[in-house]
Amino acid sequence: MPAALKFGFTPFARPRGVLVVFCDENLKFGPATQRILAPAGDLVRRAATADRFIGKQGTSLDIVAPSGLNLPRLVVLGVGKESELKSHDIVKLGGIAMGKLPAPAATATIFAEFASGPLKADQVADMALGARLRAYTFDLYKTKRKDDDARPDRIEVNFACSGANAVEKAWVKSSAIADSVAFARDLVNEPANVLYPGEFARRASSLSKLGINVEVLDVPAMRKLGMGALLGVGQGSAHDSRLVVMRWNGGKRGVDPVAFIGKGVCFDTGGISIKPAQGMEDMKGDMAGAACVVGLMRALAARKAKVNAVGAIGLVENMPDGKAQRPGDIVKTMSGQTIEIVNTDAEGRLVLADVLHYVNKRFKPKFMINLATLTGAIIVALGQEYAGMFSNDDKLAERLAKCGETIGERVWRMPLGPEYDKMIDSKFADMKNTGGRWGGAITAAQLLQRFVGKTPWVHLDIAGTAMGSPQTDTNQSWSSGWGVRLLDHLIEEYYER
Ligand code: BES
Ligand code: MN
Ligand code: ZN
Repeated sequence: MPAALKFGFTPFARPRGVLVVFCDENLKFGPATQRILAPAGDLVRRAATADRFIGKQGTSLDIVAPSGLNLPRLVVLGVGKESELKSHDIVKLGGIAMGKLPAPAATATIFAEFASGPLKADQVADMALGARLRAYTFDLYKTKRKDDDARPDRIEVNFACSGANAVEKAWVKSSAIADSVAFARDLVNEPANVLYPGEFARRASSLSKLGINVEVLDVPAMRKLGMGALLGVGQGSAHDSRLVVMRWNGGKRGVDPVAFIGKGVCFDTGGISIKPAQGMEDMKGDMAGAACVVGLMRALAARKAKVNAVGAIGLVENMPDGKAQRPGDIVKTMSGQTIEIVNTDAEGRLVLADVLHYVNKRFKPKFMINLATLTGAIIVALGQEYAGMFSNDDKLAERLAKCGETIGERVWRMPLGPEYDKMIDSKFADMKNTGGRWGGAITAAQLLQRFVGKTPWVHLDIAGTAMGSPQTDTNQSWSSGWGVRLLDHLIEEYYER
């Protein structure tokens, strides 16, 4: 049972419930915190000595029923060197604070103050964002509560801060982002019997209530456009494919939009080139790129971003069936180029080939960024810490890399080049859909590049970062919602002027 989470922002005053406070590496507290802790005398200092707590960033000291304070529990969180804190460190501290709340706690107060004094409004909002991301759970399908699950139905977290009005305002933006990350995570966590292309399209359509224009193209519409590659992937499924186009026009009229394209393979069995059984259940998350695009569009609309943005997602299910496509089949893409299918499990690039071309032709975007759980090879190359980044545009790639460092969703640039491109030339068609075992993430990117023309473009291979990722201070769920914050930040930093 998910607990309802309520946040409040109030001035520094007597705390209620579990109290979380912050100190630096000299065990120094801010003035409001000192005042609140005064009745406890030297309790914190003695506990710190006993526990060898020295205030290092991310470490904590737990004191149950602290004498003199009339609180169930006091949690002291170390922030390390305050001057070195980046925005993402504060998001992480919020996540750590949330993770420190003991199971039965229904009420907590977080004193949003470091040794030098109260946090700025943006910093409090960052901290609350981290707490919200940390608290995310997906237990929609758990009908029984475990005996040892002592969590209350409702948790109230109060951030004591200064300038509560400014904080409330900053929180409008950050909570829009938090909700949108959660929206993306939900989509990825949903099983494929629930979230097939039609249902995914319906959920994306719900964004229209935020002012997003949503169009859903069905199979006949896509056939008319000549999207043979996308349709070939979906033809073995009982669930029809969809293409969803979302538009948010918060910028000046007539200004070219920025565009985001997502791989939405609602389930990837591999098709006739079927995958082994072990771990195949994870392929319900093969639509994480599409989920990120939907989450991003939701965030832009919810915080009324001053930008014109297009989001387009290709939704298919890759199944083996009497009607499924075969290895050796040749499909014609909307761009006119033909592709020989040598492995039906290399399906994501086929879907993206048509959607990239469609978006480029219809919207003439400033740039296109696509996200896809495209290859196992990128996980071999980079593990789960960085997403693979491929680009034909140094400026856009550098901007993304910088944003990634700032907000903690990092990207590592990978090479492209004619030598790799050659590897997907085909005996029978313009290209084939795999280039063999070596450099598998790169040859996949080369295929995509054949469909973007001269438009500045980035491909993010998120197979390692979007799902099954290690639990972090800001995510305990199987899916991470990777990319929503990264791309939202990119737009805020560079494209809202
Ligand atoms: N969806 C998979 C890639 C993937 C693997 C995502 C593991 C997340 C975790 C993709 O469609 C795929 O099957 N790629 C193949 C390509 C190969 C057949 C050229 C792969 O990576 O093995
Ligand atoms: Mn596949
Ligand atoms: Zn796939």
